[in-house]
Amino acid sequence: MVSFLSIAVTGIITSFVLIHVARYISFRLSVRGKLPKAPTSEASWWLGHDYRIAKNEVGVEYGRWTNMLGPVYRIKSALWQSEVVVISDHLGVKHIVDQAYTYIKSPAFQPLVVKVGGRGLVWAEGDEHRFQRKMVSPAFSISAIKKMGPSVMICIDRMIRVSKRNAMTNQPLAIIGQVGFGYDFGPETPNGKAILGAWQKDVQLFSTFSAFLAPILIGIFPWIAKLPIKELQEILLQEPPNMDGTDVFSILVRESWEGKLKPDGERKLDNATLLDNTTSGSVQLTLLDLAQNPDAQARLRAELVAADSNDIDVIESLPYLDAVTREGLRLHPSVRGAHRVAIRDDVIPLKKPVMLSNGETVTSIPVKAGDNFIIPFPVMNSDAQVWGPDAHEFAPERWITEGALPSGSELPHGPYSHISNFIDGPRVCIGWRLAIQEIKLILASMIKNFEFRDTGVKVEKYISPTVQPFVNGQAAQLPLQVIPIQHY
Ligand code: HEM
Repeated sequence: MVSFLSIAVTGIITSFVLIHVARYISFRLSVRGKLPKAPTSEASWWLGHDYRIAKNEVGVEYGRWTNMLGPVYRIKSALWQSEVVVISDHLGVKHIVDQAYTYIKSPAFQPLVVKVGGRGLVWAEGDEHRFQRKMVSPAFSISAIKKMGPSVMICIDRMIRVSKRNAMTNQPLAIIGQVGFGYDFGPETPNGKAILGAWQKDVQLFSTFSAFLAPILIGIFPWIAKLPIKELQEILLQEPPNMDGTDVFSILVRESWEGKLKPDGERKLDNATLLDNTTSGSVQLTLLDLAQNPDAQARLRAELVAADSNDIDVIESLPYLDAVTREGLRLHPSVRGAHRVAIRDDVIPLKKPVMLSNGETVTSIPVKAGDNFIIPFPVMNSDAQVWGPDAHEFAPERWITEGALPSGSELPHGPYSHISNFIDGPRVCIGWRLAIQEIKLILASMIKNFEFRDTGVKVEKYISPTVQPFVNGQAAQLPLQVIPIQHY
C-alpha cells in the first residue's frame, strides 16, 4: 500500500525536477542561453571554466575567449553553479557599474567578505552602502589625500634608504608595504626577514588550489568558514601587519572606521592592507616594464631630473610619469575583475551587436534576477580589438601622443580616465586617488634614485589574491638588477 509519506516525497521530488527542467528550458530559449559559450571541452566537469582561469596567468583565458567569441560570452562555473556571462563591451559594462544597486556583488562571496573585512563598505549593499559611503568619503577627498602626501614621502624616503643598502649588498628588491606600514626594514634585518617571509608565504598560500576552492565552497555552504581546518583558517585569518598608530594609514584607518562606523568586533579589511595589496603588484610590474624598456625609463628619469622638485603637486602633474602610471595600471590591473549578480530584471545595452547560437543578432541582453556577470579588467584594458595591435606592449607614449588612443567612447570608463581598474559608478574604488598618488610618488623616487635593468628571468603574473609577480612558481619575486644613481 502506498503511504501518504511516499506520495508526498514523490510529489516534492517531481516538482523539484520539473521546476529545474522548466528553468533549464526557459534559460535555453532565452537570449542569455544562446550567447556564445567558451568551449565545453575546456571546462572541468566539476570546476567548470573557473579553475582554468585561476591556474593560468591573469587575464590569459578571458583574453583568448574574447578573441574567439567577442566581448560577451558565457562560461561554466565551478560546482554546478549558474553560468556566468563575461562582458567587456564598454557600453554594457558602464550600464552594469552605473546600476550598482541592481547589479550587486555576488552574495556567494559575502560570507568571505564579512570574515575578512567585516560589515564595512566593501560588504554593504543598497541603502547601507549609500550611508557608509557618505560617512567614509571625506577621508578620501582630494584635500584629505593631499594632506597625506608629506607622510607618504617620508615613508618612501625610508624605503629608498633601505633599497640603497640592499642594492649594495645585492639583496633583492622588496616593495611590499614599507610605505603603507611605515616600517624601516630590509631583508637583512630580523624584522625585515620576518615580514618579507610572511608576505611571500601569504602570496604563495593564495595561489594554492585550497585558496581557489575555499571561497566557492564557503559561498555555497557558509558554515564551512567555521570549520577548524588549518589551511582554511590560514586563508581566512590573515593578520594585518602591526601598525603603531602614527603612520599615515593607521590614521586613515582610524578616521574612516573607528570614529564613524563603530566596528562590531569583527576583523576589518583596513585601508592600509588594501593599499598594500592593491598597489604593490602593479608598482613592481611597472618597474619590470621600465627595466625592459630602457628608453622609457631614461625618458622618465630625464623628466624627473628636469623638474628637480620634491613638491608633490609638481611630481603628480608630470606628463610622462602620468603616462607611465596609466600604462602600468592598464597592463597590470590588481584584480582579475568584478563579479556582479542582478537582483531584478533589466536590459543591458551593448555597443557591439552579438550573434546568438541561432544566428540572430542582438544589441542588448535581457537580464533576469539572479543572472551573474564578470567584468574582466585585463581584457577591458588590453583587448587588441579596441586598443590596437600593440595592446599588450608597454608603450606609455600612447597616452601623450595625439591620435594614438582610440576615441573615448571605445575605451573603459573610470575615475582615472580610460583605465577600468577602479571600476566606476556608485561603487567606484574609494581609494583610487590615494593609490595613484602613492604609485606616482614611489615610481618617481625609485627612478630618480636607481637604474633598473632586466635580468632576463621570466616573470609570470598570477592573482594571489591580487596581481603578483612569480618566478618558477615562487611568489613575490622581482628579479631586477638595481644600480644606485649617484647624486652630486
Ligand atoms: C591600484 C590600487 C587599487 C585598485 C586597482 C582598486 C580597485 C578597486 C575596485 C575594482 C573596487 C570595486 C570592487 C567591487 O565593487 O567589486 C574597489 C573598491 C574599493 N576600494 Fe579600491 N583599489 C585600489 C586601491 C585602494 C586603496 C588604496 C583603498 C583604500 C585605502 C581602497 C579602498 C577601496 C574600498 C573601501 C572599496 C569599496 C568601495 C565601495 O564599495 O563603495 N582601494 N577598489
